[in-house]
Amino acid sequence: MCKQINNIINTIQNTDCILGMKKIPDMSIDLIIADPPYNLSKGGHWKWDNSISLKGMGGNWNKVMENWDNMSFEDYWNFTEQWLSEAKRILKPTGSIWVCGTYHNMGIINILFQKLGIEIINEIIWYKRNAFPNLAGRRFTASHETLLWGHVGEKKREYYFDYVYTKNGFFAEDLMKKQDKQMRTVWDIPNNKDKEELLYGKHPTMKPQKLLRRIISATSKLGDICLTPFSGSGSECVAAKRLNRNYIGFETNTDYYNLSLKRITAMGEMQKNRLELAHAA
Ligand SMILES: C[S@@+](CC[C@H](N)C(=O)[O-])C[C@H]1O[C@@H](n2cnc3c(N)ncnc32)[C@H](O)[C@@H]1O
Repeated sequence: MCKQINNIINTIQNTDCILGMKKIPDMSIDLIIADPPYNLSKGGHWKWDNSISLKGMGGNWNKVMENWDNMSFEDYWNFTEQWLSEAKRILKPTGSIWVCGTYHNMGIINILFQKLGIEIINEIIWYKRNAFPNLAGRRFTASHETLLWGHVGEKKREYYFDYVYTKNGFFAEDLMKKQDKQMRTVWDIPNNKDKEELLYGKHPTMKPQKLLRRIISATSKLGDICLTPFSGSGSECVAAKRLNRNYIGFETNTDYYNLSLKRITAMGEMQKNRLELAHAA
Protein backbone atom coordinates (compact mmCIF):
# COMPACT_ATOMS: atom_id res chain seq x y z
CA MET A 1 0.00 0.00 0.00
CA CYS A 2 1.38 3.41 -0.96
CA LYS A 3 1.45 5.56 2.15
CA GLN A 4 1.17 9.29 1.70
CA ILE A 5 -0.03 12.22 3.66
CA ASN A 6 -0.16 15.30 1.41
CA ASN A 7 -3.52 14.43 -0.13
CA ILE A 8 -5.27 14.25 3.25
CA ILE A 9 -3.69 17.18 5.09
CA ASN A 10 -6.37 19.66 6.11
CA THR A 11 -9.23 17.29 5.36
CA ILE A 12 -11.72 15.31 7.38
CA GLN A 13 -12.36 11.86 5.93
CA ASN A 14 -15.71 10.06 6.22
CA THR A 15 -14.02 6.75 6.99
CA ASP A 16 -12.91 4.35 9.71
CA CYS A 17 -9.86 5.72 11.53
CA ILE A 18 -7.97 2.41 11.56
CA LEU A 19 -8.24 2.13 7.76
CA GLY A 20 -7.45 5.84 7.43
CA MET A 21 -4.37 5.72 9.64
CA LYS A 22 -3.04 2.62 7.82
CA LYS A 23 -2.51 4.85 4.75
CA ILE A 24 -0.36 7.34 6.70
CA PRO A 25 3.45 6.93 6.73
CA ASP A 26 5.37 6.08 9.91
CA MET A 27 6.42 8.95 12.18
CA SER A 28 4.65 11.72 10.24
CA ILE A 29 2.20 13.22 12.76
CA ASP A 30 3.03 15.81 15.46
CA LEU A 31 -0.07 15.63 17.63
CA ILE A 32 -2.89 13.11 18.03
CA ILE A 33 -5.99 14.02 20.02
CA ALA A 34 -8.26 11.00 20.38
CA ASP A 35 -11.75 11.31 21.85
CA PRO A 36 -12.77 7.67 21.27
CA PRO A 37 -16.04 5.96 22.13
CA TYR A 38 -15.92 5.56 25.95
CA ASN A 39 -17.99 2.36 25.74
CA LEU A 40 -20.48 3.70 28.26
CA SER A 41 -23.75 3.50 26.31
CA LYS A 42 -25.16 0.78 28.51
CA GLY A 43 -27.87 0.39 31.12
CA GLY A 44 -31.20 2.16 31.42
CA HIS A 45 -32.72 4.83 29.26
CA TRP A 46 -32.81 8.56 29.91
CA LYS A 47 -35.85 9.63 31.91
CA TRP A 48 -35.08 13.30 32.45
CA ASP A 49 -37.45 15.91 30.96
CA ASN A 50 -35.06 18.10 28.99
CA SER A 51 -37.50 20.99 28.83
CA ILE A 52 -36.75 21.72 32.50
CA SER A 53 -33.82 24.10 32.63
CA LEU A 54 -31.27 23.88 35.41
CA LYS A 55 -29.61 27.24 35.93
CA GLY A 56 -25.84 27.14 35.52
CA MET A 57 -25.84 23.51 34.38
CA GLY A 58 -25.24 24.05 30.70
CA GLY A 59 -28.67 22.76 29.63
CA ASN A 60 -30.19 20.33 27.15
CA TRP A 61 -28.48 17.28 28.68
CA ASN A 62 -28.82 13.75 27.44
CA LYS A 63 -27.48 10.35 28.31
CA VAL A 64 -25.09 9.07 25.64
CA MET A 65 -26.79 6.02 24.12
CA GLU A 66 -25.14 5.35 20.77
CA ASN A 67 -24.45 2.11 18.89
CA TRP A 68 -20.87 3.23 18.19
CA ASP A 69 -20.36 3.47 21.96
CA ASN A 70 -21.51 -0.01 23.00
CA MET A 71 -19.10 -2.94 22.61
CA SER A 72 -18.27 -6.06 24.60
CA PHE A 73 -15.13 -5.84 26.77
CA GLU A 74 -13.15 -8.01 24.30
CA ASP A 75 -14.29 -6.04 21.25
CA TYR A 76 -13.47 -2.74 22.95
CA TRP A 77 -10.00 -4.02 23.96
CA ASN A 78 -9.22 -5.23 20.41
CA PHE A 79 -10.60 -2.08 18.79
CA THR A 80 -8.57 0.14 21.16
CA GLU A 81 -5.39 -1.88 20.65
CA GLN A 82 -5.78 -1.63 16.87
CA TRP A 83 -6.29 2.13 16.66
CA LEU A 84 -3.69 2.89 19.35
CA SER A 85 -1.10 0.73 17.51
CA GLU A 86 -1.67 2.71 14.32
CA ALA A 87 -1.54 5.98 16.27
CA LYS A 88 1.78 4.95 17.82
CA ARG A 89 3.22 4.03 14.42
CA ILE A 90 2.36 7.35 12.75
CA LEU A 91 3.36 9.61 15.67
CA LYS A 92 6.75 11.34 15.48
CA PRO A 93 9.18 10.69 18.37
CA THR A 94 8.91 14.44 19.03
CA GLY A 95 5.09 14.29 19.02
CA SER A 96 2.36 13.89 21.59
CA ILE A 97 -0.77 11.80 21.92
CA TRP A 98 -3.78 12.70 24.06
CA VAL A 99 -6.64 10.30 24.80
CA CYS A 100 -9.84 11.26 26.63
CA GLY A 101 -11.97 9.00 28.77
CA THR A 102 -13.75 8.14 31.97
CA TYR A 103 -13.47 5.14 34.30
CA HIS A 104 -15.40 3.14 31.69
CA ASN A 105 -12.46 3.04 29.26
CA MET A 106 -9.49 4.73 30.90
CA GLY A 107 -8.16 1.56 32.57
CA ILE A 108 -7.93 -0.11 29.16
CA ILE A 109 -6.31 2.94 27.54
CA ASN A 110 -3.75 3.18 30.37
CA ILE A 111 -2.78 -0.50 30.17
CA LEU A 112 -2.55 -0.39 26.36
CA PHE A 113 -0.32 2.72 26.51
CA GLN A 114 2.03 0.67 28.69
CA LYS A 115 1.75 -2.47 26.57
CA LEU A 116 2.46 -0.60 23.32
CA GLY A 117 5.32 1.52 24.71
CA ILE A 118 3.58 4.89 24.81
CA GLU A 119 5.07 6.60 27.86
CA ILE A 120 2.56 8.52 29.98
CA ILE A 121 3.70 12.11 30.58
CA ASN A 122 0.71 13.29 32.61
CA GLU A 123 -2.76 12.25 33.60
CA ILE A 124 -5.06 15.28 33.51
CA ILE A 125 -8.30 15.56 35.41
CA TRP A 126 -10.71 17.76 33.47
CA TYR A 127 -12.99 19.06 36.21
CA LYS A 128 -16.46 19.99 34.90
CA ARG A 129 -17.83 22.26 37.59
CA ASN A 130 -21.23 22.44 35.84
CA ALA A 131 -21.69 18.66 35.50
CA PHE A 132 -25.23 17.33 35.48
CA PRO A 133 -26.51 16.30 38.96
CA ASN A 134 -26.92 12.64 39.88
CA LEU A 135 -30.69 12.23 39.67
CA ALA A 136 -31.01 8.92 41.52
CA GLY A 137 -28.94 10.10 44.47
CA ARG A 138 -27.31 6.66 44.63
CA ARG A 139 -23.72 7.70 43.92
CA PHE A 140 -21.45 10.77 43.75
CA THR A 141 -22.10 13.18 40.90
CA ALA A 142 -19.68 12.39 38.06
CA SER A 143 -17.97 15.71 37.38
CA HIS A 144 -14.67 14.95 35.67
CA GLU A 145 -13.09 13.25 32.71
CA THR A 146 -9.53 11.96 32.48
CA LEU A 147 -7.01 12.68 29.73
CA LEU A 148 -3.77 10.75 29.27
CA TRP A 149 -0.91 12.59 27.61
CA GLY A 150 1.83 10.37 26.20
CA HIS A 151 4.76 10.24 23.77
CA VAL A 152 6.67 7.58 21.83
CA GLY A 153 10.17 9.10 21.92
CA GLU A 154 11.45 6.68 24.58
CA LYS A 155 14.16 7.97 26.92
CA LYS A 156 15.04 10.99 24.77
CA ARG A 157 11.71 12.60 25.76
CA GLU A 158 11.83 15.12 22.89
CA TYR A 159 8.11 15.92 22.99
CA TYR A 160 7.17 19.60 22.79
CA PHE A 161 5.78 21.42 25.83
CA ASP A 162 5.11 25.18 25.89
CA TYR A 163 5.86 25.72 29.55
CA VAL A 164 5.62 29.52 29.30
CA TYR A 165 2.13 29.37 27.79
CA THR A 166 0.92 26.98 30.48
CA LYS A 167 2.42 29.05 33.30
CA ASN A 168 1.92 32.62 32.11
CA GLY A 169 -1.01 32.28 29.71
CA PHE A 170 -4.43 33.70 30.58
CA PHE A 171 -7.03 31.08 31.53
CA ALA A 172 -10.00 33.15 32.70
CA GLU A 173 -12.42 30.22 32.82
CA ASP A 174 -10.22 28.17 35.16
CA LEU A 175 -10.87 29.10 38.79
CA MET A 176 -8.08 26.76 39.95
CA LYS A 177 -5.30 28.19 37.77
CA LYS A 178 -3.37 30.97 39.50
CA GLN A 179 -1.89 33.57 37.15
CA ASP A 180 1.86 33.05 36.56
CA LYS A 181 1.96 29.85 38.62
CA GLN A 182 2.68 26.44 37.12
CA MET A 183 -0.34 24.76 35.60
CA ARG A 184 -1.41 21.74 37.60
CA THR A 185 -2.95 18.48 36.42
CA VAL A 186 -6.51 19.45 37.42
CA TRP A 187 -8.09 21.68 34.79
CA ASP A 188 -11.27 23.53 35.67
CA ILE A 189 -13.00 24.09 32.32
CA PRO A 190 -16.82 24.33 32.21
CA ASN A 191 -18.38 22.07 29.60
CA ASN A 192 -20.61 24.87 28.25
CA LYS A 193 -20.24 25.52 24.55
CA ASP A 194 -20.15 29.01 23.08
CA LYS A 195 -22.92 29.92 20.61
CA GLU A 196 -20.54 29.63 17.67
CA GLU A 197 -19.67 26.04 18.64
CA LEU A 198 -23.30 24.96 18.33
CA LEU A 199 -24.23 27.08 15.33
CA TYR A 200 -24.40 24.17 12.86
CA GLY A 201 -25.70 21.42 15.13
CA LYS A 202 -24.81 19.24 18.07
CA HIS A 203 -22.91 16.06 18.80
CA PRO A 204 -23.73 14.07 21.97
CA THR A 205 -20.13 14.19 23.20
CA MET A 206 -18.81 17.43 21.72
CA LYS A 207 -15.62 18.64 23.42
CA PRO A 208 -15.38 22.37 24.29
CA GLN A 209 -12.95 24.53 22.30
CA LYS A 210 -11.32 25.86 25.48
CA LEU A 211 -10.14 22.37 26.44
CA LEU A 212 -8.84 21.54 22.96
CA ARG A 213 -7.10 24.88 22.46
CA ARG A 214 -5.26 24.37 25.72
CA ILE A 215 -4.02 20.94 24.62
CA ILE A 216 -3.01 22.11 21.15
CA SER A 217 -1.27 25.28 22.37
CA ALA A 218 0.62 23.46 25.12
CA THR A 219 1.85 20.48 23.09
CA SER A 220 2.22 21.52 19.43
CA LYS A 221 3.75 24.29 17.35
CA LEU A 222 2.45 26.49 14.52
CA GLY A 223 2.22 24.48 11.30
CA ASP A 224 2.31 21.08 13.04
CA ILE A 225 0.02 18.27 11.86
CA CYS A 226 -2.73 17.45 14.34
CA LEU A 227 -4.64 14.19 13.72
CA THR A 228 -8.00 13.27 15.27
CA PRO A 229 -9.05 9.63 14.80
CA PHE A 230 -12.63 10.21 16.06
CA SER A 231 -13.47 13.69 14.84
CA GLY A 232 -17.22 13.66 15.52
CA SER A 233 -18.47 17.20 14.92
CA GLY A 234 -14.92 18.32 14.09
CA SER A 235 -14.10 20.12 17.36
CA GLU A 236 -10.42 19.10 17.42
CA CYS A 237 -9.92 19.99 13.73
CA VAL A 238 -11.65 23.36 14.19
CA ALA A 239 -9.43 24.17 17.19
CA ALA A 240 -6.31 23.11 15.26
CA LYS A 241 -7.24 25.28 12.27
CA ARG A 242 -7.98 28.24 14.52
CA LEU A 243 -4.50 27.90 16.04
CA ASN A 244 -2.84 27.63 12.61
CA ARG A 245 -1.99 23.96 12.83
CA ASN A 246 -2.72 21.49 10.02
CA TYR A 247 -5.42 18.93 10.73
CA ILE A 248 -6.54 15.45 9.66
CA GLY A 249 -9.79 13.96 10.93
CA PHE A 250 -11.57 10.60 10.55
CA GLU A 251 -15.26 10.08 11.29
CA THR A 252 -17.50 7.16 10.29
CA ASN A 253 -20.90 8.76 10.92
CA THR A 254 -22.02 10.76 7.87
CA ASP A 255 -24.22 13.21 9.81
CA TYR A 256 -21.38 14.14 12.18
CA TYR A 257 -18.97 14.27 9.25
CA ASN A 258 -21.24 16.74 7.41
CA LEU A 259 -21.55 18.83 10.57
CA SER A 260 -17.76 18.89 10.92
CA LEU A 261 -17.37 20.13 7.33
CA LYS A 262 -19.74 23.03 8.04
CA ARG A 263 -17.81 23.96 11.17
CA ILE A 264 -14.40 23.81 9.51
CA THR A 265 -15.64 25.89 6.55
CA ALA A 266 -17.04 28.49 8.97
CA MET A 267 -13.68 28.64 10.77
CA GLY A 268 -11.94 29.20 7.42
CA GLU A 269 -14.35 32.05 6.62
CA MET A 270 -13.76 33.63 10.02
CA GLN A 271 -9.99 33.51 9.54
CA LYS A 272 -10.31 34.99 6.04
CA ASN A 273 -12.47 37.86 7.33
CA ARG A 274 -10.02 38.58 10.13
CA LEU A 275 -7.13 38.67 7.68
CA GLU A 276 -9.01 41.07 5.37
CA LEU A 277 -9.86 43.34 8.31
CA ALA A 278 -6.22 43.30 9.44
CA HIS A 279 -5.04 44.25 5.94
CA ALA A 280 -7.64 47.02 5.70
CA ALA A 281 -6.65 48.52 9.08
C1 LIG B 1 -16.55 10.65 21.55
S1 LIG B 1 -17.08 11.02 19.93
C2 LIG B 1 -15.98 12.34 19.43
C3 LIG B 1 -16.61 13.72 19.56
C4 LIG B 1 -15.69 14.86 19.15
N1 LIG B 1 -14.61 15.03 20.09
C5 LIG B 1 -16.46 16.17 19.04
O1 LIG B 1 -16.15 17.12 19.79
O2 LIG B 1 -17.39 16.24 18.25
C6 LIG B 1 -16.50 9.65 19.05
C7 LIG B 1 -16.81 9.65 17.57
O3 LIG B 1 -16.13 8.56 16.97
C8 LIG B 1 -16.89 8.10 15.87
N2 LIG B 1 -16.39 6.76 15.59
C9 LIG B 1 -16.68 5.59 16.22
N3 LIG B 1 -15.93 4.58 15.72
C10 LIG B 1 -15.12 5.14 14.76
C11 LIG B 1 -14.09 4.62 13.90
N4 LIG B 1 -13.76 3.32 13.91
N5 LIG B 1 -13.46 5.47 13.07
C12 LIG B 1 -13.79 6.80 13.03
N6 LIG B 1 -14.78 7.32 13.81
C13 LIG B 1 -15.42 6.51 14.66
C14 LIG B 1 -18.33 8.20 16.37
O4 LIG B 1 -19.24 8.28 15.28
C15 LIG B 1 -18.28 9.49 17.21
O5 LIG B 1 -18.69 10.60 16.45
